[in-house]
Amino acid sequence: MKPLQEAVGSYLAKGRAWFHMPGHKGRGDGAFAEILPWDVTEVDGCDSLFHADGPIDLLEQAFSRVYGTRRTLLCAGGATLCIQTMLALACGTGRKLVISRNIHRSAINACALLGLEPVWVYPEQDAGDWFLGRYSPEAVGQALAAHPDAAAVYLTSPDYFGVMSDLTGIAEACRDYGVPLLADNAHGAHLPFLPEQYGCLHPIACGAALCGDSLHKTMPAMTGAALLQIGEERFAGDAKRMMSMFGSTSPSYPIMLSCERALGYAQKGAKEGFARTTTRLDALRILAQQHGFALPQGVTDPARLTLGFGALGWPEQAFGDYIRAHGIEPEYISGSACVFLANGMNSDEDFARLEAAVRGIKPRGNPDPVRPVLPHPVRVMGVREAAFAPQEQVPVGQALGRVAAAEASPCPPGIPVVMGGERIGPAELESLRLYGVKTVNVVR
Ligand SMILES: Cc1ncc(COP(=O)(O)O)c(C=O)c1O
Repeated sequence: MKPLQEAVGSYLAKGRAWFHMPGHKGRGDGAFAEILPWDVTEVDGCDSLFHADGPIDLLEQAFSRVYGTRRTLLCAGGATLCIQTMLALACGTGRKLVISRNIHRSAINACALLGLEPVWVYPEQDAGDWFLGRYSPEAVGQALAAHPDAAAVYLTSPDYFGVMSDLTGIAEACRDYGVPLLADNAHGAHLPFLPEQYGCLHPIACGAALCGDSLHKTMPAMTGAALLQIGEERFAGDAKRMMSMFGSTSPSYPIMLSCERALGYAQKGAKEGFARTTTRLDALRILAQQHGFALPQGVTDPARLTLGFGALGWPEQAFGDYIRAHGIEPEYISGSACVFLANGMNSDEDFARLEAAVRGIKPRGNPDPVRPVLPHPVRVMGVREAAFAPQEQVPVGQALGRVAAAEASPCPPGIPVVMGGERIGPAELESLRLYGVKTVNVVR
């Protein structure tokens, strides 16, 4: 079933002259020759994302069945737009919310736009020395007990390194305090298709009220393809309107068509693809451990290989060079760990290169490897106030005592060392230096 492809296909078959947007009129050359005809807009028979009652509605209903949600909304603006939508839906404006410290900048920006004030929860140290750990139901419960006026709980799981928190336990804690759980599931659109033995449930199956999934990160979809997943009926009615508050009024049809392609894969092929992928990655994990890499401990996403090269004494730049010399581009290299995303679209040759890189590694003995640290800075100003205040960029060396205007992260998509509105003290300065951050934006 491909309702959107059929709708656009039959529009194209009519051969109408395009006296409508987009300005390319469906005519392109080179790489664009194939794609531009499909880049239509809300023309006759092709539905409209924010008022869907045709093929897009059918597509959303099919996604909802696959993910077991109350409702699923297609999104062409990435998990970023889903995050803005769910925070607005659950919190409105000017409220407090309990939020995991490892949030992505899309959530920080949404807090600034909506005037939300974060109450941070910090992770445990249960994933080993080289990785940030999980958020516990107890820590979330304590934060909710201390802040009974919080509107919601917002957590990232899986995190960038694949570390997964106990969302079922956290959802229970949220129920005890009568607040919804919102999950940044940008890295987990594939979770329902993993073999059961890993115990990696999708946030909605764990009891989350809302979550945002980047289809483009782990499923075969184009950049920007995402899903807003709704687990509680009360959020369904207003979700489209809220998404349209932040999104473009011209969502991309190629991106939405690529969501449909990902749906086809989810319905047929994904389970087999992820079974093959995880088997290969499990073998690579054993090999990596034998060669001295650190791996994140406990429940982690098995479709992502995270290699802690810091444990082998390799500096970041040298490890990046080593991996690229094997013909591989990883997803991300931080101070001490490297992340590789894999799925059924990877070829045998891809895995053979990865295996050769893991097999060939030798310890280096860097005396000063970077371990992940999360300082606890002091908040002196609201996130929104700081984001919209007059600001300037200063070298890190001149930042001591200043108030950060925006989050300062090692590099996208790093975990922020300081957030907007927090004072940069000696511990924060040291972390920024450790991560190689050169400049920060501070309030003037
Ligand atoms: C944890 C996390 N959340 C949200 C996002 C935003 O997702 P998108 O790029 O789909 O807008 C990212 C992107 O890297 C991310 O890593």
